[in-house]
Amino acid sequence: MYCLVVSATPDIPWNDLRARARHATTTSYAPYSRVTVGACAVTDDGRLIDGANVENASYGLTLCAECSLVSDLIRQGGGRLVAVSIVAGDGQPIAPCGRCRQVLFEHGGNELLIDAGDDRTPTALSQLLPDAFGPDDLGVRRSG
Ligand code: THU
Repeated sequence: MYCLVVSATPDIPWNDLRARARHATTTSYAPYSRVTVGACAVTDDGRLIDGANVENASYGLTLCAECSLVSDLIRQGGGRLVAVSIVAGDGQPIAPCGRCRQVLFEHGGNELLIDAGDDRTPTALSQLLPDAFGPDDLGVRRSG
């Protein structure tokens, strides 16, 4: 007898994402806050993309780990993000900041899964950024 299991979500290599995000914290440049952040995402074609935060003496110009990750995504040919783990230097997942929720939305949409830590169900981006403004809004909101 065969049993076919159909999962609503694809298999996500959470352990790999978490491990690579932790390693990415060691490549962070965070001399001002001393909060190192690393991120790793998997794309819909199975690629793993990393990022780390890059701070600046002009504090407001700091690039978050997620911005670094999205920059690498585009540099490596683009694609859709399916799941992402974002961790601080203590190795534990952190919530993406508001700006990064918007940046991630552009490349992963409502379904993007965010690592919420051990024993917690991953969070869909739609929960962190409800009713998001995105690329689809531009076409219908332009004047002329
Ligand atoms: N940081 C990120 O890299 N991603 C986030 O989503 C939250 C904050 C970084 C920015 C800064 O270098 C440090 O964490 C402290 O805010």
